[in-house]
Amino acid sequence: MRTAGLRRLLTPEGWELLASLPPYDAAEADRLNLRLRAAGHDPELVAAALTQQRLRERARAKFGDFASRMLFTEEGLQQATRLVVAARHADRYRRAGCSRVADLGCGLGGDALALAALGIAVDGVELDETTAALATVNLMAFPDARVVHGDALSHDLEPYDGVFADPARRGPRGRVFDPEAWSPPLPRVFGLRERVPALGVKVAPGVGHHHLPGDAHAEWVSVGGDVVEAGVWFGPLTERPGRSALVIDAAGRGATLRCTDDVHSPARQLPPGPLRRYLHEPDGAVIRAGGVALLAEQLDAAPVSDAIAYLTGDQLAPTPFAEAFEVLDHLPFSTKRLAAHLAARGVGRLEIKKRGVDVDPDRLRGQLRLRGDEEAVVILTRLQGRHSAVIVRRVTGRPGTMVP
Ligand SMILES: C[S@@+](CC[C@H](N)C(=O)[O-])C[C@H]1O[C@@H](n2cnc3c(N)ncnc32)[C@H](O)[C@@H]1O
Repeated sequence: MRTAGLRRLLTPEGWELLASLPPYDAAEADRLNLRLRAAGHDPELVAAALTQQRLRERARAKFGDFASRMLFTEEGLQQATRLVVAARHADRYRRAGCSRVADLGCGLGGDALALAALGIAVDGVELDETTAALATVNLMAFPDARVVHGDALSHDLEPYDGVFADPARRGPRGRVFDPEAWSPPLPRVFGLRERVPALGVKVAPGVGHHHLPGDAHAEWVSVGGDVVEAGVWFGPLTERPGRSALVIDAAGRGATLRCTDDVHSPARQLPPGPLRRYLHEPDGAVIRAGGVALLAEQLDAAPVSDAIAYLTGDQLAPTPFAEAFEVLDHLPFSTKRLAAHLAARGVGRLEIKKRGVDVDPDRLRGQLRLRGDEEAVVILTRLQGRHSAVIVRRVTGRPGTMVP
């Protein structure tokens, strides 16, 4: 949203216009725009209000009903912590007995909102002026929450018994992978625990374990099967250092797999085994946390090949940490053989999963010339080193769902 449009939106006229809009309907957006302009509303204000209406609809996935009372920017919404995860962040501060937390780089206030909702006083610090203004509106319902427009690293931390930071990982040219180039830089943020031991930091899930200090507990988090972040916790915000995976299902239920007490220990590797009745696909959070070997032991399963995160075994042990498939068939992988196999079974709809093979699923789907009424799932991978196609049936769905 452009700043001028936003300023107009924060006037009584703008506020009234926004409140008067119906729920977002893409098919109606152009007509609504014309109608509001014909009614005499300023085009810039109308554009700003309609942008909010659209962003609020999208934000429901992260903020539920709260979204209808919040203000967003495209970028701020992308970076905001979804409420189901922010609530878990906030609960760590509550359990540690924190009463006043600084949220450094608060963005639109996703995490600050969750802290405030637990009755913890929170000061958000935000470098971008527009974002800080929107966060102020988003936190308006909470008397003990406020937003300061300023630089996180020069903010006085004296009044706080807890600090949360979520450094920006996007620059003008897209995603920034080097944690030293995040804003603020990750090592500077980690250094804040010398001033406030109860420090929590949200980082990109792809962060290398070597970037994490030895006294950290890093928790990789997935929601509905998608890995969304790693939370790095220090001091009273964690029981002990190490790595874990938190898998949150579609209903918001969480399960934690504690993988190791040493944040830097290399991920254990187990010897591969022959294909068995079931194939388990570990959740991405478990993979990132280096917990695949531990999960394999829990499932009495073995990797299908060296360094491939598909596990195979004879037991169907219920677990929130992996999706399970029953193996129906398997063949050495070649497009021609797979096409013949699927044609013989009348497969017209195919889900392609892959790991450890260099295949473009969309291109392959086109080459397979699928025809028929049947559905199938194929997993392309290496079985003890050999490129293979495994035809499977899903027996458990993504975390939180059961498929008959
Ligand atoms: C990833 S977003 C935070 C999202 C937030 N946790 C939420 O749930 O809405 C990071 C924010 O940090 C802000 N930022 C970047 N550098 C900063 C700095 N030095 N001081 C304060 N804020 C900063 C960015 O403008 C951005 O809004």
